[in-house]
Amino acid sequence: MSADTQKKAAALEALKVVTADVKIGLGTGTTANHFIIAAAEKVKREKLNTIFVPTSAASYALAQKHGLNLQNIEDNAFLDFTVDGADEIDPQFRMIKGGGGALHREKIVASSSRFVICICDESKKVETLGKFPLPVEVSKYGVNPTAWKIERLLHNQGFTNAKMRLRAQVDGKPFVTEGGNAIIDLQLGAIPDPDRLEASLKHLPGVIECGLFIGICGIVMMATENGVEEITRP
Ligand code: A5P
Repeated sequence: MSADTQKKAAALEALKVVTADVKIGLGTGTTANHFIIAAAEKVKREKLNTIFVPTSAASYALAQKHGLNLQNIEDNAFLDFTVDGADEIDPQFRMIKGGGGALHREKIVASSSRFVICICDESKKVETLGKFPLPVEVSKYGVNPTAWKIERLLHNQGFTNAKMRLRAQVDGKPFVTEGGNAIIDLQLGAIPDPDRLEASLKHLPGVIECGLFIGICGIVMMATENGVEEITRP
């Protein structure tokens, strides 16, 4: 089964939360896209009044094209669910997110939701986070001094082989997030203490958000060769 088939299977499993009278945050990425399209079909078929809050312009555009009832987070401080993908997820349901650059909005929406459901294929499952480069969203103002502070922090925390890269677009220009910020991707290999790293990164002036999502995800729907496993955080 291809990774994309698994992503779709996980997305279809999450359709069970698409019911009447609920508000659902929509993640960003290829897995979330499968969910958006399938949710739109279900809403249409069952004539549901479900409200959806997207986390990016891309998710907004896709959801709008498929006719979902969209609202923004300003009018919905509390959501029932958020359904989103992940770049990596560990046994404690800690995740790396932001491969698509939407981490800031994804974290605001997810942390405003009663239940956060991670839908993913099994390639996202890791014992230790960090093989996937950790995205850190930083202010464009002072990007160099912020990068320097991040470098010093990584050194002090023992990441001796860390590499940092300012994310670029395909044309080589720096990538700009929807919030108007830059992203520095940290290649760390392994993150032995994600909680400590997240707390210390967020403490640095210039850091807007970090792609470590800790204590946010409560339910994982992970597609495997044998079907979709649903696991709830104890
Ligand atoms: C977007 O910023 C990310 O957090 C995505 O949710 C994550 O990268 C998963 O993407 P895919 O579903 O495309 O693998």
